[in-house]
Amino acid sequence: MRNIKKNLLEAIGNTPLVQVPFASEAQIFAKLEYLNPGGSIKDRSAFFMIEEAEKNGLLKSGGTIIESSSGNQGVACAMIGAIKGYKVIITASGAMSEEKVKTIKAYGAEVIMCPAVPITDPQSRHQQAITIQKNTPNSFMPNQYFNLSNLKAHYTSLGPEIWDQTEGKITHFFAAAGTGGTISGAGKFLKEKNPNIKVIAVDVDVSFHSTKGNPKPYKMEGIGIDFETHCLNESVIDEFIPVSDENGLGMLKIMARKGFLIGTGSGAVSYAVSTYLNKLKKGDVAVMLFGDSGRAYLSKNYY
Ligand SMILES: Cc1ncc(COP(=O)(O)O)c(C=O)c1O
Repeated sequence: MRNIKKNLLEAIGNTPLVQVPFASEAQIFAKLEYLNPGGSIKDRSAFFMIEEAEKNGLLKSGGTIIESSSGNQGVACAMIGAIKGYKVIITASGAMSEEKVKTIKAYGAEVIMCPAVPITDPQSRHQQAITIQKNTPNSFMPNQYFNLSNLKAHYTSLGPEIWDQTEGKITHFFAAAGTGGTISGAGKFLKEKNPNIKVIAVDVDVSFHSTKGNPKPYKMEGIGIDFETHCLNESVIDEFIPVSDENGLGMLKIMARKGFLIGTGSGAVSYAVSTYLNKLKKGDVAVMLFGDSGRAYLSKNYY
């Protein structure tokens, strides 16, 4: 037997880099994070934070994982909890796709729906998760927006993978930002290897960050910096590209017709890269991150 994994957790990461047929003299690759066992980039961060909590004695046998999520972190926690034998409670807002809610429940986790209000509101999914965690003995909240280990997860796994797969030839890295953990963690690793690599964060055009504190509602999920998160390290980010719902969602069918059935955040990343093509030149190697699959959005965004 060859390349056997002892369990699903060992199958997290080492996702393929696949060339994307965009009209450019540069080589453009997609990092297919939707091929993680839980279906998204968030397998990496949830796994890292949960294992770290176990090592530090913050999560013990028979314990409960409680997390606030826009979807994928919840799915990842639910899958890992099912494998490791923890109870999992996810607080979510009504903005989450029905597919993601059902996926979390399918893994045996509980979903608590909360209103889509600012993070400081006691009814928000973040504050409700904190309250539940305080009132639940032997429980742990990964707290992805404030736990710097979220960033470390991508610094230690995603960044090195991309560097190795491109044999150090990467010149541009594009990823969606939600907590900011992915772009900041992988971006820091890549910048340390070669400070000339351009690290480009893709945000929603009406997010808290893009509007400097005057956000408006938007439809894309997972992407969007909704408040000043501790996991966003702007010192490793060269540029933010804000993308509208219309443009990000508009890419979904275009990319599906090329064979890439991607989620809404990846739609925004694809759009951002398509606007950047005129800046890429022969010899450049651009990597864009596809964080999850379109299968989680079929009923909401693929009609
Ligand atoms: C599909 C997808 N891509 C990207 C991101 C953004 O990642 P991060 O929270 O590390 O900024 C998320 C976050 O939930 C996501 O679900």
